[in-house]
Amino acid sequence: MVYAVRIPKREAETLRSWLKENGFYAGEFQPKITEQGEVLLPVKRDFAVSNPLGLEVVEVKLLRNLVKPQPKLPFDVIGNICIFKQGKRGVRYVDEIRRLKSIYNFLEAFYLKVGILEGVERVPPLKLLAGPDRALTIHIENGLKFYVDVKRTYFNPRLATERRRVSELVKNGEQVLDMFAGVGPFSITIAKYTGAVVDAVDINPYSIMLLKKNIEINGVKRLINAYNSDASNFSPEKRYDRVLMNLPFNALTYLKKAITLCKRNSVLHIYLAQRRDKKDYTQDILATLRGLQREGNVTKTRVLEYAPRLLIERYDTQLD
Ligand SMILES: C[S@@+](CC[C@H](N)C(=O)[O-])C[C@H]1O[C@@H](n2cnc3c(N)ncnc32)[C@H](O)[C@@H]1O
Repeated sequence: MVYAVRIPKREAETLRSWLKENGFYAGEFQPKITEQGEVLLPVKRDFAVSNPLGLEVVEVKLLRNLVKPQPKLPFDVIGNICIFKQGKRGVRYVDEIRRLKSIYNFLEAFYLKVGILEGVERVPPLKLLAGPDRALTIHIENGLKFYVDVKRTYFNPRLATERRRVSELVKNGEQVLDMFAGVGPFSITIAKYTGAVVDAVDINPYSIMLLKKNIEINGVKRLINAYNSDASNFSPEKRYDRVLMNLPFNALTYLKKAITLCKRNSVLHIYLAQRRDKKDYTQDILATLRGLQREGNVTKTRVLEYAPRLLIERYDTQLD
């Protein structure tokens, strides 16, 4: 018998990533779909004993992964859509799609990312491999629902834990600015779990359209205002306790603007991509602060490996 978490299938992939990231996933066993359509995810004993998420843990018989899993293609699951992240020569996607469908029978469409994130909207060019060409889906993360259009709006399911972590730093009643909000995963997680008031800005009208829908379905209408605007033109009268800047390749361009929108003692969470040069941006941030006669200190946290040799780091900047 093995310990397993019983979870609705739509939430299974998010939970599985979280369990893996936190070392709780018992990968030597195969997950199983129950007759009721739920998924049984194998977990290690320490998870079953401490049950930190308060989930339903059962003891069941699960098959062992006898054969070593074939070299897998990296992929993301967003709602019922699977996106393979890069092509590899000689790979038979049909085999991989069949294998994935047998584990995650909720997957309907399979796409291949055929280039890097494009345009200010940061969306990937996608090629349909199998299933219906339907890019709109609902993704469940941290108990919240998000409409995402994988062809028109940015969404990274691997940031689920990061959104939870950041929301844990926010206090009730704070005024928060999410400068590059996308369809709202940071804004909505923060508002829902802390009661903070969030102004969410994005330049992409499709993102704002879905953000408004997401605000509604998650019941945070009174806490979030959505603005379709270029962040550099966003000029509210109020000032913020906290500013989120999730634009890893370009956030520093908007740093001056962000600082001018901060109160005293505000915090900025600046996400930046660290490439091969392993550049540390701390001094650039401090120099921008000095240029505006502000002071503060910066601490850096590793968030995730975005691609081989490309890290995303969060620079938390506490202003004086
Ligand atoms: C990396 S995505 C982050 C989205 C969201 N925070 C998330 O975690 O899913 C960056 C977002 O910034 C938006 N964006 C890019 N340039 C912008 C600008 N100048 N002003 C406002 N939004 C911008 C893009 O449309 C995109 O939705």
